[in-house]
Amino acid sequence: MGDDTAQTPAQTPAQPAAQPDDLQQILGYQGAIDERDDVRAISDDVLIVPFWTPSFCTTVIRAAEAVGAFEPQPDDPVPGHEVSLALISPRLFEAVEIDLGVRIWPQLQQVWPYIDYHGLRDVFVIKYAMGQQEHLRLHHDVAQVSASAKLNEGYEGAVLDFPRQGVTNQPAAVGELIVWPSLVTHPHQATPLRSGVKYGLTIWFELPSF
Ligand SMILES: [Fe+2]
Repeated sequence: MGDDTAQTPAQTPAQPAAQPDDLQQILGYQGAIDERDDVRAISDDVLIVPFWTPSFCTTVIRAAEAVGAFEPQPDDPVPGHEVSLALISPRLFEAVEIDLGVRIWPQLQQVWPYIDYHGLRDVFVIKYAMGQQEHLRLHHDVAQVSASAKLNEGYEGAVLDFPRQGVTNQPAAVGELIVWPSLVTHPHQATPLRSGVKYGLTIWFELPSF
């Protein structure tokens, strides 16, 4: 081959990376990951870990609203207006379960070295709105580890509050997980919503089975 120029691709001007569209985000988990590896403690055994980008949080809210089935689960002793990610898309649920196991769980093991990953008990979007759900009573969760992220801004109240630890989720930005051991030591509540609409993501990590 004496003529290399024939195989040189035509030069095209650099294009800014296109934003993934809704389907690429929800079905392909594109643009979801907040890459920062930055676990930090706000109390004994209450951590904050970057998880999702704010734009992905917005897309998940839109997907949950499009599904339009914010319902209390019939067997939930602390009922909330919730949509499981599995109901939005089994592929999304699977991508989240893998991402949490591969990327987030090792960060939690830096603080809690003996926890083992057994997948997710559930992960859902919870909605607070005046006249619908305005608070969540003090309770603890039935899971190994729990996590929660704010998905939006523009509301007042509905603060995730840990009275025993004396901390709230206010230091966490949209898309950052606040993470705690689920049972016994970490009762928590959502304070009354005062205005606006709040969407949160709740994650329950599955308990070990013996
Ligand atoms: Fe809870």
